Amino acid sequence: MKVMPERRKVKNFVRDLEVWYRQHGRHGLPWRYQNKKINPYGVLVSEIMLQQTQVVRVYDKWILWMKRYPTLRKLKAANLSEVLKLWQGLGYQRRAKALYMIGQQCDTLSSDYDTMVSLSGIGDYTARAVRVFAFSIPDVPIETNIRTVLVHHFCSDKQYVTDEALQELLVIIIQKTKLSVRDLYYALMDYGAFLKGSKISYNHTDKKYRKQSTFKGSRRETRAKVLFAITHGEPIPRDRVTREILRELEKEGFIKSVKNTRVKSNVYWQVV
Ligand code: ADE
Repeated sequence: MKVMPERRKVKNFVRDLEVWYRQHGRHGLPWRYQNKKINPYGVLVSEIMLQQTQVVRVYDKWILWMKRYPTLRKLKAANLSEVLKLWQGLGYQRRAKALYMIGQQCDTLSSDYDTMVSLSGIGDYTARAVRVFAFSIPDVPIETNIRTVLVHHFCSDKQYVTDEALQELLVIIIQKTKLSVRDLYYALMDYGAFLKGSKISYNHTDKKYRKQSTFKGSRRETRAKVLFAITHGEPIPRDRVTREILRELEKEGFIKSVKNTRVKSNVYWQVV
């Protein structure tokens, strides 16, 4: 189903968004282009960190990461165990491994969509977001905040709105705004975060956007604890769930088992 608003409605929306962004935008985030030192790699790191984690939790980690691994070349020389250690606290460690793998896979970042989605951990949204924020290409990324803004202003009466319909709407908005494409998306994300903070949320309209499950007591928490124990050389619990998780992490290429030659028929785990 298409979302085809009147021209006047788009014009008013764009004008109001520009005013709102000037006054309330998060202009100081270090991975944005207001920071003169930012580069495409820094943008990629931020997008991967921000995939499932809030801005406040990413802020310090991003700074720490960029100090430790300021370039893809430095990341290439990194060791996965140290990378996972640095990541601790952010959760979803697959993302840390994906970034590490990207470091192994390429020396520079391409702005080409197909090349980007061929890299570990980069899906449709991240590829489009990096194209916008790192290369200023007018692509059409959709994530939960952008979605919230567009549905709230243009189709809150509809039962179900596809990403494709919203992407067509974004093309029209890009043509109408005076903001650079980067600033337009910073504005949409910030305004979306603001709407959600005001309890306005429409993500239920697309099945793709599922609410994150509670961390405490979850399998994700046990995974994080197991990886913490391995990277810090601490004892690993011996229960069934932990054993399953160890096998899972092994299959995913995070860890490997090593025979302990001093203790008969005993193994220990280490990061690959
Ligand atoms: N700025 C650039 N990308 C962002 C994101 N994914 N979330 C919040 N702010 C951002």
